[in-house]
Amino acid sequence: MGEGRSLVAASILNADLANLAREVRRAVKAGADRIHLDVMDARFVPNLTFGWTTIAHLRPVTQAPFDAHLMIAEPGRWLDGFLAAGCDSITVHVEVEEPIEPLLRRIKTAGRAAGLALRPGTPMAALEPYRHLLDIVMVMTVEPGFGGQAFMREVAQRKIPEARRLLAEKPWGGEVHVDGGVNRETAELVGGLGADVLIAGAALFARGRNLGREVRLMRALADEGFAIELNDGARPAPREQMVRLASLPRALGEPLRDAIEAVGVPVVMLRGSGLVGPDGVRDVDLLVPRVSAAWVEDRFGPRRDALHAEAAAARAADAAASPGPGPAGSESS
Ligand code: DX5
Ligand code: ZN
Repeated sequence: MGEGRSLVAASILNADLANLAREVRRAVKAGADRIHLDVMDARFVPNLTFGWTTIAHLRPVTQAPFDAHLMIAEPGRWLDGFLAAGCDSITVHVEVEEPIEPLLRRIKTAGRAAGLALRPGTPMAALEPYRHLLDIVMVMTVEPGFGGQAFMREVAQRKIPEARRLLAEKPWGGEVHVDGGVNRETAELVGGLGADVLIAGAALFARGRNLGREVRLMRALADEGFAIELNDGARPAPREQMVRLASLPRALGEPLRDAIEAVGVPVVMLRGSGLVGPDGVRDVDLLVPRVSAAWVEDRFGPRRDALHAEAAAARAADAAASPGPGPAGSESS
């Protein structure tokens, strides 16, 4: 982890269920970034798995984040159990027949990431009303209910970019998860469409698989896809990396930093390695998290450009006023 951009969440649905703690440990040791927990109630989907008690028992086994995927008909009734069990994110299905907004609010109030998942046949527009509450959009590329099914390519091609657009207004970018049939054959496509978290079950836990090798391969292929399709061929950087937004004299940089932080994006201000002002003080660099860079650029780019112009004008005026080295300024008496 930490090298590339995409993350792999191990779905333990097809793991050895008689040894879940061991399987979770094995997945994390093999490099899986998250554990994906598929909860099914034999009502919302025609299958039955485990509930929050099992999750609570697994919680002490690892520090890795737990992503709960609730394929259940009445998430509101059981939500507190999943929150208490220590899930880091909870994703519910947008197709459930109860008000969605209170569910998302409860998850967020508990300090967890909130997500909505959609069946392959549900349009992305169904998520539109909840956009402001979403941390995760989970695109299902199989009909929910069972592991080991075939990846629905057309669904992925249509919906992953739509999900990315839906989350584009978040300073943190949000996370697009792709669930169902993700493996070494499909990871590159999924990464190239802009997915952030690849959920994989059968590909990791099938008998005879080298779990670690599959995790590394999927992440590398997804990053490769992202580089080629969305990043001009350049290797993607980790989402948490900081990137430079501006280089400015401190007096101009500080108010810009404050304005960006006021909308919730952290800014690191460093003494830069660039220009030195007329006062002999070096300009500062403003750095923002890579995941927020596009969002910040959109909103603060024009103001940053104006400040750069202001700084350049001040420098030019100063240079014109002060007698520089050369014939005009030297030996004039
Ligand atoms: C399906 C589950 C998925 C599934 C993924 O309903 O939500 O998480 O376990 O497993 P694979 O990778 O086997 O499709
Ligand atoms: Zn799932």
